[in-house]
Amino acid sequence: MTGDGPLVLGIETSCDETGVGIVRGRTLLADAVASSVEEHARFGGVVPEVASRAHLEAMVPTIERACADAQVRVDDVDAVAVTSGPGLAGALLVGVAAAKALALALGKPIYGVNHLAAHVAVDQLEHGPLPEPCLALLVSGGHSSLLRVGDITGDVVPLGATIDDAAGEAFDKVARVLGLPFPGGPHIDRAAREGDTSYVDFPRGLTGAKDMREHRYDFSFSGLKTAVARWVEARQRDGDTVPVAHVAAAFQEAVVDVLTRKAVLACTEEGIAHLLIGGGVAANTRLRAVAAQRCEAAGIELRVPRPGLCTDNGAMVAALGAELVARGATASSLDLPADSSMPVTDVVAR
Ligand code: KG4
Ligand code: ZN
Repeated sequence: MTGDGPLVLGIETSCDETGVGIVRGRTLLADAVASSVEEHARFGGVVPEVASRAHLEAMVPTIERACADAQVRVDDVDAVAVTSGPGLAGALLVGVAAAKALALALGKPIYGVNHLAAHVAVDQLEHGPLPEPCLALLVSGGHSSLLRVGDITGDVVPLGATIDDAAGEAFDKVARVLGLPFPGGPHIDRAAREGDTSYVDFPRGLTGAKDMREHRYDFSFSGLKTAVARWVEARQRDGDTVPVAHVAAAFQEAVVDVLTRKAVLACTEEGIAHLLIGGGVAANTRLRAVAAQRCEAAGIELRVPRPGLCTDNGAMVAALGAELVARGATASSLDLPADSSMPVTDVVAR
């Protein structure tokens, strides 16, 4: 270990991205990603077996590329970190097995980490140490959560989560309804730039008075997705063309409105002055813009990693691993599991 912090290699394989990142302390040295997204596109969603096979093929070349980019040798690393969960079981297994093999062969400690905590920790590579506490809005293809983060290496408390679809899942499903390719988030984001956000007033899930009592910090996107599908079907039945840009903009506005409203409310009510947004949907242009406006109005400091660090990558796993090493956290055991439903409160697998 040098004075600049531990050198950590992180491996991410929870979904369809084989990510290998290398960091030294809070400095990003390499972020190599091989994606199998194109192999899934014709199925309209990630096919777990296809993803697992692609991870297997991409793993060694991606590790080699990351080491070359970082100009380090693999035996220089102080520790290996890997996503232990949550995610697709078979996909996680490939990364966990690779990380165990590396750690064993190199005689270095292994840290099996939580994917969601890693989405939060990655911001340290761009904006420096995380404020403690901070509130994290985590929005991805599999998760939508509001978390109170006292300390990213061990104190993560869920305040709310989606009760049905994840935000990214809603983007992907609505994109399909609109005839846009998979994954739909970036396509809706792009189409919406030409659209009118108030063209249709789509429902804001769990924002009525009763829901705000019972599901104050929870989200629901399944009703919204159905409302968009019904609206589009009605147009098609009448033989009218669907105004894709307007529907994309109005749908996106409904998602962004609820996410930012509840995140700002949670900050205010919990007395937390820092909001961090992470996960694939945090790459969304409109979400970033509305969050910036509302945080400024509420006196909250907003942090959002650059879009390339929001979607799944290995650097986020390395970032969390390096923080764990730097704080002297106990490493995972070599028989750590690939845990597809790892709870968000477990930052490190044992
Ligand atoms: O974090 P991530 O890469 O993988 C998971 O852990 O799920 O998130 C992927 C999700 C997909 O649903 C994708 O459509 C969405 O993030 N996404 C976006 C954007 N870029 C990616 N959603 C909205 N706008 C974007 N620009
Ligand atoms: Zn993710």
